[in-house]
Order: sequence, then C-alpha cells, then structure tokens
Amino acid sequence: MSRSHWGSRLGFILAAAGSAIGLGAVWKFPYVTANNGGGAFLVIYLAICLTLGLALMVTEMALGRAANADAVGIFKKLKGGKWPIVGYAAVLTCFLILSFYCSVGGWTVAYIVKSVPGGILTSDAEVLKANFDGFLNSPILLVVYLVVFSGITLGVVIGGVKGGIETLSKYLMPALFVLMVVLIVRGLTLPGAVEGVRYFLQPDFSKVTMRMVVDALGLAFFSLSLGMGIMLTYGSYVEKGINLLRSSLWVIALTVGTSFLAGLMVLPAMIAFGLSPQQGPGLTFVTMPAVFAQLPAGEVFSVMFFVLLLLAALTSSVSLLEVIVCFLIDEFGLGRRTAAVCTTLAFVVLGVAVSWSMGPLRGYTVYGKNLFDILDFLTLNLMMPLVEIAVAIFAGWVVKKRLEAELLLNGTKPFWLFPMMVFVRFIAPVLIALILVNGLIEALKPAG
Ligand code: PHE
Repeated sequence: MSRSHWGSRLGFILAAAGSAIGLGAVWKFPYVTANNGGGAFLVIYLAICLTLGLALMVTEMALGRAANADAVGIFKKLKGGKWPIVGYAAVLTCFLILSFYCSVGGWTVAYIVKSVPGGILTSDAEVLKANFDGFLNSPILLVVYLVVFSGITLGVVIGGVKGGIETLSKYLMPALFVLMVVLIVRGLTLPGAVEGVRYFLQPDFSKVTMRMVVDALGLAFFSLSLGMGIMLTYGSYVEKGINLLRSSLWVIALTVGTSFLAGLMVLPAMIAFGLSPQQGPGLTFVTMPAVFAQLPAGEVFSVMFFVLLLLAALTSSVSLLEVIVCFLIDEFGLGRRTAAVCTTLAFVVLGVAVSWSMGPLRGYTVYGKNLFDILDFLTLNLMMPLVEIAVAIFAGWVVKKRLEAELLLNGTKPFWLFPMMVFVRFIAPVLIALILVNGLIEALKPAG
C-alpha cells in the first residue's frame, strides 16, 4: 500500500508550522517571556531554537523520510532491536497530550461562543476569575466543548494528510496571521502601549539564571513539537528531493516569528490597561477579556482573539492525532477512518477526566497535583525529553551514516552536517537531560 505524501513543499512547511505554532507560541510564550526578564529570555529562546531546535527538527524529519514509516516503524526499519520502544513512547506521549490539549482547545471554542454576546467582557478581575472558575466547574459544558474541538480534529485527520491536514493548514495559517496583525495594530495604537513593548523587549540580564535557560529549553521543545514523533511522522510524508534543512528553517522562523508577534499582541494591550501578565490560563481566559472589555467594539476583538487561539490549537491537535493514526495504519493495517475514530473516542474519555480534574473532581489529587497537572508534567517534563534524548542518540550515534546520506539527498550542503552533528550527538543529550533533571527536582519538591 502506498503511503500518503504532502502535495507540495509549501503545504508541508505550513503543516509542520501549524503543528509547531499552537498554544505554546500564542499562549505560553508571552507570559513566560514577560515573567523571565523580557528581551533576555527572548535572546536565549531564539538562540536555542535556531541551533539545537533546528538540528533536532531536521534530524526528526530526515529519520522519518529515510524510513518512510510511522514513529515506531522508523526505529524498526532503520535499526530494530529495542529501539522501537522510543517510537511507542512517542505515540503514547501524543495520546496523553491530546487529552489535555483538546480540553484547552475546547475552552477556546467556549470563549468564542461566550464572546459573541459580549457576555464575558467586564473589567472586573474578580468577576472574570469567577466566570472562568464557573466554567471549569460546569461538567456538561466542558464535555460538550471538548467533544466539539476533538470532533473537528478528527474530521481533519480523516480527511488525510494532503486533503485534510495540508488543506487545513494552508487556509488557517494565513488566517491566523491576519487576525494577529489586526490585534497587534489595535494593541499598539492604545495610549501607553509603548510601555508594554518595553516590558516585553527590554532585556533584563540580571534575571538570567540556569532555571530560565531550562524554561527556555522546555518551551522551545514544546513549541517546536519536538520529542513526540510529530516531525518524525510529518517527515515521513515528504518526497525525496525536498531540502529538509531549508524547510525546517522556515518552520522555525515561522514559529519564532509568531511567538514574537504573540508577545506584541498580548503584552502592550495588557500593560496599557494596567493589567499584569499572570501565569498560566489566567492570562488568556481571565486577563485578555479584561483588555477587550475596555476596547471599543471589544466583542469583535475578543471573538478574533479566541478564534486565533482556536486555529492555532487545531493545527497542533491534528498533528498529535496524526502520529497515532499513522502508527495504527502502518503497524496494524487499520483504515484511516477506523484508526482516527477509535483513537479519538479513547482520548476523549481521558480528556473528560482531565477537564473535570480542575473543577468537579478537584478533590482527587496525587501529591497535590490534579490529573491535568500530572499529565502535563509526565508528558512535557519526562516523556518528551526522554524521547528526544533517545532520538538524538539514535540519530547521532546509531544511524549517523544513514541520516547524513538522507540529508545529502536533497541539496543540503555537506558543510552543514558537521555543526549539526555536534548538536545532535553531544549538545542535545546533555541539554535535554537538564530539562529532565529540573523536572524531577520540581516533582520532588513538597506539594504546594
Ligand atoms: N507545538 C504546539 C504548541 O506550541 C504544541 C504541541 C506539542 C503540539 C506537541 C503538538 C505536539 O502549542
């Protein structure tokens, strides 16, 4: 059976960028940057993305294309032995992430609906917080929105690599960009916005700590969709002859560029209204409505903003589901539709538990952590780094020759192989191990 392929290089780049650009870029990046010394964090983040991030993205894509198989099949075909375990871990990671990523995706749908009559728009922080908590405590609504978001994701994946994912990305990525520009212009033309730009960009190098570098590393991996089999899988749909290094550079430039724009979209407006960027969901679902409440025609901007978040989340959730579907098709010969439907049913069940874990089931915790936090921690702080270290060792030490041959196939200059391999073989395993160690230290801290 012949495997699916992307229809064009542009389609591939937009799909990969669609996976990368998601809640990480639009939601996490602005507040992590704001809370980490602004410009200083930005510089470190950029440097990581353009060196380590680039090397690993190319590596993942090249492994995928070399084997022309799913995340598990890649390891089976290129080496065998125990290596396929890495692929299984990646597939499992995607499954677990889907359950909470789609819950948050559901929130974005809910907030689009809530924005329409202007119902959430008030500048009273207490009311906004109460609204958000109220929503997290509505079991039925949470399920409805989770199902809606997951259903859309499912529909796209059933549409296939080219007809579904590529087409979606080709429309949504430009749409996302346009929405973003409109919101940035609106934010920057508010009186006092310059203060926010300064807050975002002015580097405070006194805040640079090891901790911050590790945060930047973790965010970069999450944002670039590395360590979960996504770029492996997407790479396996790329035709020979496409320059993977150049394509990855595009994907990274688009992702980093969007993160930067997201910062400009969110922070100046927030500071202009005297609000402070808070950690986590608060920023998006509590603080942003306060911003819109004070804008003329705020409902319109509010809808635009949550649509933008939805688009960003959707092209990412689709990539997570595709990893699993590709695995089920290639390894078990399932049909695409069957694979996609079964997977979706399974992760939605888990997703329901996850979304209730912050509301109705709040009382059930382990070490003070609810299910959402546990899955978030397990996947992003443990599984993702472990998978990526294994991928780096596999690529740099076990199948190095094969990887290099794959890259040379498409016009990547031999000159680039050396620095790339230094990153893959030596720097990646060490730096990623830092994320891991840091995560473990966090986990062992007394619950608070
Ligand atoms: N890169 C996506 C984002 O920034 C998140 C993501 C992670 C998507 C892992 C797929 C897989 O939101």
